[in-house]
Amino acid sequence: MDKFIIKGSSVLSGSVRISGAKNAALPIMAACLLTDEESILHGIPPLSDCLAMKSILESFGAMVIWNPLKQSLIIRPQGIKTCEIPYELATAIRASFLVMGPVLARFGQATLDMPGGCNIGLRPIDLHLKGFAALGAKIDIEHGKTLASAKYLIGDKIYLDFPSVGATENIMMAATLADGLTTIENAATEPEIVDLANFLNTMGANVKGAGTNTIKITGVKHLHGANYTIIPDRIEAGTLMAATAARGGEIFLEDIAGDHLKPVIAKLREMGVDISESANGLRVKSPGFMYLDATEIKTMPHPGFPTDLQAPFTSALALVKGNSIVTETIFENRFMHVPELVKMGANIKIASRSALIEGVECLSGARVMATDLRAGAALVIAAACADGTSEIENIYHIDRGYYKLENKLLNLGVKIERVSIDASIEKVV
Ligand code: EPZ
Repeated sequence: MDKFIIKGSSVLSGSVRISGAKNAALPIMAACLLTDEESILHGIPPLSDCLAMKSILESFGAMVIWNPLKQSLIIRPQGIKTCEIPYELATAIRASFLVMGPVLARFGQATLDMPGGCNIGLRPIDLHLKGFAALGAKIDIEHGKTLASAKYLIGDKIYLDFPSVGATENIMMAATLADGLTTIENAATEPEIVDLANFLNTMGANVKGAGTNTIKITGVKHLHGANYTIIPDRIEAGTLMAATAARGGEIFLEDIAGDHLKPVIAKLREMGVDISESANGLRVKSPGFMYLDATEIKTMPHPGFPTDLQAPFTSALALVKGNSIVTETIFENRFMHVPELVKMGANIKIASRSALIEGVECLSGARVMATDLRAGAALVIAAACADGTSEIENIYHIDRGYYKLENKLLNLGVKIERVSIDASIEKVV
């Protein structure tokens, strides 16, 4: 078990290359099961969630060769021997469920336990199953497992009650091998959906309209392997932007596309942060929390403000003079970072789905605990802005979605160190 030790730091400065997007890598890795041909993926960060997906593909019988230095994967799904995965792998990550669409479409059946993932809400899978049923699959729930089976899938029109990212991805993948046309209405429009659609089309699929609320997929008989580079991680970029906004300074984020971060850029500019976009990245310049304006944030499906940046921004606003309100409309339990921020001196109250933030003069370093991926990132931001030293435990949550976050922050001037708790106990002993 590791922890971060972070000393309140001076302003941030420097340049950082943004890693590949976790939430693009996971569905695209699953999509490789739609063919028996080899695919090569580039820009896949060796995050624990991506390693978990690698194990899931291998449990089906696929061969996955990882080159961590080049951050590339060779996936050879020729030797698939089963249509189900072990409980431990299915429950390790939420994205495990994204293999259901590809396996159902290719083999006519799939059996999966309920997925795992951050405990930020109930996170049902009813919209995924509604989509598979619309394509003609028989769905059974037995002993906690979901069984989907269909001799063949037939295209149909599916209206998603909520623009679910995962359901859009799962149904889109299944529909690539269905007979005829599938239309997904009220589809999610996140950049990761577009990236998956682009990958599927590189495999020979026929997906149109990704990035809009209506996606049309015309089924094909066969898909082939592809060579593909995934998009950079807008959430990692947004997290570093929130840190710079609060702490102050000037950084350059390489390889990130401004149009993937429109709601975040707009909000930061409202707060008084200067952001300039160029062909190869974003320059972020901030006077620091003392000089920023309080604001209101409401998380919404894309192109609204992303829920994955709610916690990092709640943290950044804790020190901004005045009253800010952050409302979380996507997940019902995504304020677990607030009690930890209050331990550091933040003045935040939760009222229903909103965090009411009254900016404080300073935060003080404390021993706090990461409770989920983005909550952990929020604590890192608070610790970098706090007076004194903080210890953040359970940083395995952070490692799920941020590749070498401590290295990136160190290069930007944050005084952060990763320590193995066993080692620190040894020191004491
Ligand atoms: C994806 O999760 C991301 N994960 C999440 O990122 C992200 O927060 C979320 O999309 C929203 O943008 C991956 O891509 C691996 P949803 P997903 O289905 O697909 C409800 C992170 O920190 N819902 O769009 O699980 C659900 O309960 C993670 O990187 C149903 O009701 O999100 C939630 O309230 C966290 N029925 C809302 O929709 C369903 O069948 C959004 O969920 C599916 C979802």
